[in-house]
Amino acid sequence: MSEDIKKGLLGIVVDETEVSKVMPEINSLTYRGYAAQDLCAACRFEEVAYLILNKDLPNSIQLKKFEKEEKDHRELSKNLYEIIKHMPKKSHPMDVARTAVSVMGLEDKETSNSSPEANMRKALRIFAKTPTALAAFYRIRKGKKIIKPKKDLTFAENFFYMCFGKVPQREIVKAFDVSLILYAEHSFNVSTFTARTITSSLSDIHGAITGAIASLKGPLHGGANEEVMHMMRKIKKPENALKWINNALKNKEVVMGFGHRVYKSGDSRVPTMREYFGKVAKIKKDRTFEKIYDIVEKVMIKKKNIYPNVDYPTGPTYHLMGFDTDFFTPIFVISRITGWSAHIMEQHAANKLIRPLASYKGNKHRKVMQLNQR
Ligand SMILES: CC(C)(COP(=O)(O)OP(=O)(O)OC[C@H]1O[C@@H](n2cnc3c(N)ncnc32)[C@H](O)[C@@H]1OP(=O)(O)O)[C@@H](O)C(=O)NCCC(=O)NCCS
Repeated sequence: MSEDIKKGLLGIVVDETEVSKVMPEINSLTYRGYAAQDLCAACRFEEVAYLILNKDLPNSIQLKKFEKEEKDHRELSKNLYEIIKHMPKKSHPMDVARTAVSVMGLEDKETSNSSPEANMRKALRIFAKTPTALAAFYRIRKGKKIIKPKKDLTFAENFFYMCFGKVPQREIVKAFDVSLILYAEHSFNVSTFTARTITSSLSDIHGAITGAIASLKGPLHGGANEEVMHMMRKIKKPENALKWINNALKNKEVVMGFGHRVYKSGDSRVPTMREYFGKVAKIKKDRTFEKIYDIVEKVMIKKKNIYPNVDYPTGPTYHLMGFDTDFFTPIFVISRITGWSAHIMEQHAANKLIRPLASYKGNKHRKVMQLNQR
């Protein structure tokens, strides 16, 4: 392959962004200049969602208004509830999320209006409604009654309530909130680039987010948090972990939850999420996965010099919180809608059609033969 080809766009800078950056001087992912872990310590997810969408942290009046709008838009149309009820129970919830956002686009009165103001309103509606759609499917596939959203609960509390019918203790909600903050944005990753590529043809925000969800589903991107849990289940007991990881490395397997295109010596989100994983494990009085976590991590760093990414601690944390494994990536979606929306609006504001070139290696020119001559 010619050296001019940058497969996977490796190392290629394709545009500018103000949304986020991994700042080497503080070795951290930053949203609009704030370190993600500092936001986890000082803010609720709603404040960070506001920051990502509106470029600055809200004051209390701005936050109140933003939260009211989010709460006012949580409810789904009757039509969307019906569609979700009729989806095959075996559907992957990522496909449910993708279809639900697509249907929201059919129902939204402003779908074809991509002005900055309309895009902000639509982003907020998608952000508010997607958790409701996912929680409805979570209940329906278990043969349970749908639980409608409640306006007196925070974004994180409401998601637990709609899935489980109750809100867990404060520390569990905080751990969930932290995971949402850490998942909210990460520059030009595959799903964000997908959203920006769709937007670059001046298509609409519902379409761009639908495409981004499809892209996030893959195991090399968002799907990794689910794969981490499958791996931990396979390992089963801490006593099996060393043998399992040594075998995996011997067989040249890709170990899920490790490695990153951007961070080569550790994902800055991991220490924060690892801390909250520990807190949740302690509350749940189940340290099995924590022990497996530590053993596998140690071997990966020692033998391969490859560090965990944020999906490694979030997978078992969501499991301990009681979520089904195939809901881990959809939780990523409900958070990342903020980052995608900010990028979609940024792309609209300074658009250039994204259209790379390819080096052709197919047949030379051929003459078309009539069917009876082939
Ligand atoms: C994320 C990921 C796709 C980054 O890929 P990348 O930047 O293209 O890096 P590469 O896949 O080229 O990896 C470079 C080397 O490290 C190895 N490596 C990278 N991640 C690895 C992993 N998780 N397990 C085992 N080896 C890994 C590769 O095999 C490759 O080795 P080689 O040079 O001997 O062929 C990759 O690390 C991966 O597949 N990780 C697992 C999936 C995951 O957790 N994804 C979530 C990302 S947030």
